[in-house]
Amino acid sequence: MPRKKIKVLITGGAGFIGSNLAKKLMDRGDQVVIIDNLNDYYDPQLKKDRIKKLLKGYKFVFYKGDIRDEKLLEKIFKKEKIDKVVHLAAMAGVRNSLLNPLLYEDVNIKGTMNLLEKSVKYKIKNFVYASSSSVYGNNTKQPFSEDDPVDTPISPYAATKKATELIAHVYSHIYGLPTTGLRYFTVYGPWGRPDMALFLFVDAIVKGKTIKVFNYGKMTRNFTYVDDISSGTIFALDNPQKYAIMNIGGDKEETLLRFIEVIEENLGKKAKRKLMPMQPGDVPATVADISRLRKLGWEPTTRIEEGIKNFVNWYKEYYKI
Ligand SMILES: NC(=O)c1ccc[n+]([C@@H]2O[C@H](COP(=O)([O-])OP(=O)(O)OC[C@H]3O[C@@H](n4cnc5c(N)ncnc54)[C@H](O)[C@@H]3O)[C@@H](O)[C@H]2O)c1
Repeated sequence: MPRKKIKVLITGGAGFIGSNLAKKLMDRGDQVVIIDNLNDYYDPQLKKDRIKKLLKGYKFVFYKGDIRDEKLLEKIFKKEKIDKVVHLAAMAGVRNSLLNPLLYEDVNIKGTMNLLEKSVKYKIKNFVYASSSSVYGNNTKQPFSEDDPVDTPISPYAATKKATELIAHVYSHIYGLPTTGLRYFTVYGPWGRPDMALFLFVDAIVKGKTIKVFNYGKMTRNFTYVDDISSGTIFALDNPQKYAIMNIGGDKEETLLRFIEVIEENLGKKAKRKLMPMQPGDVPATVADISRLRKLGWEPTTRIEEGIKNFVNWYKEYYKI
């Protein structure tokens, strides 16, 4: 039997992950509604271009607005007859959350509660939302597993993400709303965020500027390619759980130094490196145990060699280098 097409509300759909996800959902025939306030945490032009260029030729509904605006959400849910929600809109970025903690609380917690309220009222069939590997805080047991306690976040951002997991549990438990929280591990790829390492490094190397390599490059990450993140998110969307938390990460640990090497190979240019100590709020290693999602059938497929190449190609084309 052919799969029933669905209508999905993507919050933060002009964002890095949201726009990639919107494309993938529409490619398989689903309908997409996006809400995004196009805020200026980073260049809003990049967000507008994701809508205008990455999603060129696709038919979808776009609302420029804020998830804290309860009246707007009411209007959208009433009008659009949405089946499922992927909630990605958030203030992201660990370091910025130390500077603007109350904004993070407002958007990430209040915004999420607004959406959960509407999802219950309008009988949404599945609510999938972005959590983060940062909830593991200073946990030393590696790899990070969903069964590990995560009661010691070390940034306001991480604390808001943990809070959304707790709040989602309330709505699953009391109202039977299926919710899945996805703990994304360092996502990278074309149309990526200018505040994240890959973008910062490529940009600096191209411009001949020195890059800051924190923790002397000894950080380890499960870098996760954005297409793998989207496929995992769609997988979660298609398989509603009563209440679930899942890690989504690449299956290979990489050091920051190896990551930089691959960038250099792709740019054909060496980086000027400034080795630095750890930054407050950052964690030295985030290695994902992805067995839970894997058992259900999801698998990451992209290695950094391929993913970084795709990013560098996109960067050169977008910025006309
Ligand atoms: N990129 C990563 O490595 C990563 C890792 C872990 C978790 N996450 C989470 O995944 C989600 C998507 O991240 P991303 O990398 O695509 O970030 P992003 O900043 O590119 O996307 C978030 C989008 O949400 C929008 N937004 C922010 N506040 C809003 C508000 N109040 N109302 C409406 N829209 C609002 C922004 O304009 C932006 O377009 C976020 O929840 C983030 O915390 C990302």
